[in-house]
Amino acid sequence: MKLRGAMSIGQQGHLLIGGCDTVELAQQYGTPLYVIDEAALRQKAREYSRAFSHYMPGSEVIYAGKALLTTAICRIIDEEHLSLDVVSGGELYTALAADFPPERIYFHGNNKSSSELSMAVAHGVGRIVVDNSHELELLQEIAAAKGTEVKILMRITPGVEVNTHAYIQTGQFDSKFGFPLNTAETTAAINRAARQMPNIRLVGLHCHIGSQVMDLRSFGIAAEYMVRFLGELRDTLGLELEELDLGGGLGIRYDGEDEPPEPEDYARVISQRVTAACSEIDLPIPKVMVEPGRSIVGEAGVTLYTVGAVKDIPNVRRYAAVDGGMTDNPRVTLYQAVYEACLANKAAEEPRELVTIAGKCCESGDVLIKDILLPPVEPGDILAVFSTGAYNYSMASNYNHLPKPAMITVYRGMSDIIVERETYADLVRLDRIPPRLAGSRRTAAGSVKSAAAR
Ligand SMILES: Cc1ncc(COP(=O)(O)O)c(C=O)c1O
Repeated sequence: MKLRGAMSIGQQGHLLIGGCDTVELAQQYGTPLYVIDEAALRQKAREYSRAFSHYMPGSEVIYAGKALLTTAICRIIDEEHLSLDVVSGGELYTALAADFPPERIYFHGNNKSSSELSMAVAHGVGRIVVDNSHELELLQEIAAAKGTEVKILMRITPGVEVNTHAYIQTGQFDSKFGFPLNTAETTAAINRAARQMPNIRLVGLHCHIGSQVMDLRSFGIAAEYMVRFLGELRDTLGLELEELDLGGGLGIRYDGEDEPPEPEDYARVISQRVTAACSEIDLPIPKVMVEPGRSIVGEAGVTLYTVGAVKDIPNVRRYAAVDGGMTDNPRVTLYQAVYEACLANKAAEEPRELVTIAGKCCESGDVLIKDILLPPVEPGDILAVFSTGAYNYSMASNYNHLPKPAMITVYRGMSDIIVERETYADLVRLDRIPPRLAGSRRTAAGSVKSAAAR
């Protein structure tokens, strides 16, 4: 087990993150607890900015908020001068609630509703990434009704299949996302957007091939296909599109075997392929954008849990159950994702016992880590699961009515809450009892309160 980024082991043998003792954090804030190492997040954001401004001057790095979005995260992203990709009215609302500059927001999604598009237009988001013809027509109507012009990119599926889990491949032709590359229908839609829609200004193209991609060649191939397509649009339609957004997708380290490329390698490969392809067809180099999510925030996150029941099934398996599970981290059940972890209160002890970490949900599949070597596990131990910054909180649910965990940042020895822990009251806050049922248990609310007080 390798510690990540700014993790270390303190004098008491506890895991430290961002200068904070994780066992004390668990005591102070409770568990499960999402911990974000702010310095690690900022460092990745800076690595991206540095690499892309070096290899592709004038390019733009856009953080993909779907990986993790809260108002505090928006503030950090803004302070690091990255732009922001949002994918729903809810994500847009979160960004606006954090005063994120709308002109640096890119609005994505394969089925944006009319009210989401209206909201985006009303707030003047920088670019809308149009996914399909239905959306294109809707957006023209909305922009015309508001008497404004909207800048768009059109999302293209470049036909590149990448080596990652099928659920997070998005660049293949058989995809719910985008316009397929180089079909007559796609060219017609692009022509319509560019020439026949008075309130739409088509400025470029977008593609995104998938997530947790480790092989940089796939990004290079997609970049080359997209540049060639820009060339075809110039030759056939006389269009000169200035922007090329190549999406996100760079992988991160989940287990010790993973060796993800650095943002620097990624920027270099994209720069080389875009530059070479442009020069072959004599096309001016477009402004390039990338949209990393996971690789900015993933390794900055750790989730702390308290171990409860530990049980042995002789000659079969030893289980340790924690106080969270598929509700706060659905990636294991969704994608068979593999995680590493340590016992935060025994971080200096030798791992010598094979154990399976189970969650507390009523599903046999609710297992966070199958067969991990840890020091002997006992009830009350604090388990720290690594690389949980991306697609954990943002994909969390309330299955079994488990309240969502709190989230904190740790930074230079300080900790701050950035998302409060949900309460049981939050779980019924939006429930309504129809009047016809209201009379049957007039005292229900009162009895819950008095039960909680006892
Ligand atoms: C359009 C788009 N951009 C960016 C991303 C971010 O990808 P990642 O978090 O793998 O970098 C995604 C993820 O699905 C996406 O769909």
